[in-house]
Amino acid sequence: MAGPYTGIDMAHYDKEERRNQQSSGYSVNADSGDSGGICAYLLTGISILLIICTFPFSLLFCIKVVQEYERAVIFRLGRLLLGGAKGPGIFFIVPCIDTYCKIDLRTVSFDVPPQEILSKDSVTVAVDAVVYYRISNATISVTNVEDYGRSTRLLAATTLRNVLGTKNLSEILSERESISHVMQASLDEGTDPWGVKVERVEIKDVRLPIQLQRAMAAEAEASREARAKLIAAEGEQKASRALREASEVLSDSPAALQLRYLQTLNSIAAEKNSTIVFPIPLELFKGFSKRMKE
Ligand SMILES: *[C@@H]1O[C@H](CO)[C@@H](O)[C@H](O)[C@H]1NC(C)=O
Ligand SMILES: *[C@@H]1O[C@H](CO)[C@@H](O)[C@H](O)[C@H]1NC(C)=O
Ligand SMILES: *[C@@H]1O[C@H](CO)[C@@H](O)[C@H](O)[C@H]1NC(C)=O
Repeated sequence: MAGPYTGIDMAHYDKEERRNQQSSGYSVNADSGDSGGICAYLLTGISILLIICTFPFSLLFCIKVVQEYERAVIFRLGRLLLGGAKGPGIFFIVPCIDTYCKIDLRTVSFDVPPQEILSKDSVTVAVDAVVYYRISNATISVTNVEDYGRSTRLLAATTLRNVLGTKNLSEILSERESISHVMQASLDEGTDPWGVKVERVEIKDVRLPIQLQRAMAAEAEASREARAKLIAAEGEQKASRALREASEVLSDSPAALQLRYLQTLNSIAAEKNSTIVFPIPLELFKGFSKRMKE
């Protein structure tokens, strides 16, 4: 798509050019009155005459329709028409002197192809992402960039590399959410002059080299094993301490041991009421024998 200038009036062009450079970006030109001089008026007159002469049939070429989600950016003799993008619905063009292009305002998504990235701590990871964007201003998406879709795609790939290049591996793996937000903000800033609004960026997948995966798995397993051993050792320590205390208590009074035997017998009997073979310690009868003697 050509720029907004007809290029006939060079002095005017220069003035415009300077103004645009100062404001760094395209601004919609409001004075379409002096856009082509007498030649333009002549062409417009002839076109309108043609429309009137061929009246019912000319409507076929004059009336255009865009869908609810579309806008039409119209150029009359190369100049952007006043009033911005037309639509949705019916709009009129003058054949021969008008050209227009339809812009879809719906959200578009694309995959950023997997990028091999060297993280801050020198690990190569392959990362891919999904980007969702839509056109926020149809006019400047036509006038400021040749192909907004392709440009956004390329910018997304480089932004992904730039953002992830500043992170180390553990950050890449653990902070996907914040990386997505940083990327969305920085991509949106870059596409702003093209009338493109980046709505969402999602990091899809982070793939590590196979060797690193194995090493990490081994590391995780080893640390888990170490923790398990520690827990087992602690348990044993506690158990042995408790046993020592128990034995101290039992040794304090000999009758306690006998009671313990009886208790054990009782608990076994409650659970399994079949025949029980239980070694009866002789100490049990000492008490009885003492009493018999008395
Ligand atoms: C699109 O951008 C142009 C130039 O910056 C501006 O004049 C126009 O108002 C914008 N249109 C919308 C719908 O924001
Ligand atoms: C990754 O970077 C963060 C902050 O920049 C730091 O706190 C962390 O220790 C680093 N991790 C590694 C494994 O270098
Ligand atoms: C043995 O225990 C079962 C339940 O556990 C009970 O139904 C049964 O009556 C018991 N038998 C005797 C002889 O107590």
